[in-house]
Amino acid sequence: MTMETIVSSTAFARARAYILAGEVVAFHTETVYGLGANAYSDEAVKKIFALKGRPSDNPLIVHIHRDFDLLRLIDFDPPYAEKLRRAFLPGPLTMVYPSKGKVSALVSCGLNTLAVRVPASKTAQAFLREVNLPIAAPSANLSKHVSPVTAQHVLDDFGGKIPLILDGGKSDGGIESTVLDVTGDVPMILREGLVTREMIASVVGECGVYAPKKGEKPKSPGIAHAHYMPRCKTEYFSDEAAARACYEEEIRMGGKPYLLCEHEAAEHFNGLCVLDLGRTGEEMASRLYALLREGEKRATRLIGIEPKKKGGAMAGVLNRLHRAFGAEDGTNQTESS
Ligand code: TXA
Ligand code: MG
Repeated sequence: MTMETIVSSTAFARARAYILAGEVVAFHTETVYGLGANAYSDEAVKKIFALKGRPSDNPLIVHIHRDFDLLRLIDFDPPYAEKLRRAFLPGPLTMVYPSKGKVSALVSCGLNTLAVRVPASKTAQAFLREVNLPIAAPSANLSKHVSPVTAQHVLDDFGGKIPLILDGGKSDGGIESTVLDVTGDVPMILREGLVTREMIASVVGECGVYAPKKGEKPKSPGIAHAHYMPRCKTEYFSDEAAARACYEEEIRMGGKPYLLCEHEAAEHFNGLCVLDLGRTGEEMASRLYALLREGEKRATRLIGIEPKKKGGAMAGVLNRLHRAFGAEDGTNQTESS
C-alpha cells in the first residue's frame, strides 16, 4: 500500500491527528529521526515493528515532552537519576527505568523496564507537546540500514509508507542517544552516545559500561543486532596502506571505491575519492550517517579506516563504525535492529 508522504516543519496538529488515529509519524530529533506511534496502543506500536522489519525482541524508546510527568510511566526513580536528568535533559540521553507497565507491553518486548527519552529538538518537543502522549519511536530507518539524519533519508526508506515527516533539518548530534540503565545502584551505559561515561561519572561519581559476556543474552537486545549497514560492499582497516591497496584493487576491477576516514587521513589521501569524517568526536558523530548514506550511493566499495582520535564522543562513533562495517563487536551478526 502506498500513500502520499507529506514533509512539513509545522504540521503538528496534523501529526496529532495521525497519532490519535493510530498512524506512524516520523519526526526530527537532535540525534537521528524517529518513527513514532502512540506508546499506549498495541496496534500502533505493532505498525512500527512491521514498517521497519524490526525483530520483535528489540525494545523501543518512549519519548516525552519536558513537562510530561515521568512518574506516570516508571515504578522507581533511583536518587541519582534526578541529578542526571537535571544535568542532561532534554538531550541525547535515554534512561532505562523499572516500568509501571502503563504503555503497551510490545514497547519493551516483555521486559519489566522502560527506556524514556526527552529529546532537545524543538520540532520533537513541539510534536510531543501537541500529542501529550508518550511516543514509542525507534530510529526511522529500515531495520539494519543506516540511521536517518535528514527528512530525505527518512523518505528514502519510508516514502509512500507513512503519512508525515516532521522536518527539523539535519540532526546535528548525528548518532543515537546514550542508553543508560538506571535500575541498579550505579548507572550503566548500554549504548554509547554523545553523553559520555565521563560526563555521567562527573555528575554522579560512578558509571559503568555494559558489555555482554560471551553467550549471555544482552541487557539491551539492540546491541546484539547488526546495524547501520551501508548497501554496498564494505571493508574496514586500521592500516592505511592496506586500505589503499584495497582501493586500488577495486579500481583495477573497474569499480568505484570511496575511503571513509578522519580528517588527517583524508588529507593524506588527497586526490582519491574520500569521505571526510572530520577532526573531533562530535564532528565525526555529526557526519557519520550522512556520509555512510552518501557512500552507499556513490561507491561500489566503501572502505572505512579506523580513526585514531580517542576520548569523548569517539566511543560512540567507533561503536557505530564497527557495526556499520561488521568489524569487531558487530562481526557476523545475522539479526537486525
Ligand atoms: O537517539 C535515539 O535514541 C533515537 C531517537 C529517535 O530518539 N532512537 C533510537 O531508537 O535510536 P532505536 O530503537 O534505534 O534504539 C533503541 C535502543 C536499542 O538498542 C534497544 O535495544 C534499547 O534502546 N532499549 C530500548 N528499550 C530498552 C529497555 N527497556 N532495556 C534495555 N534497552 C532498551
Ligand atoms: Mg536504530
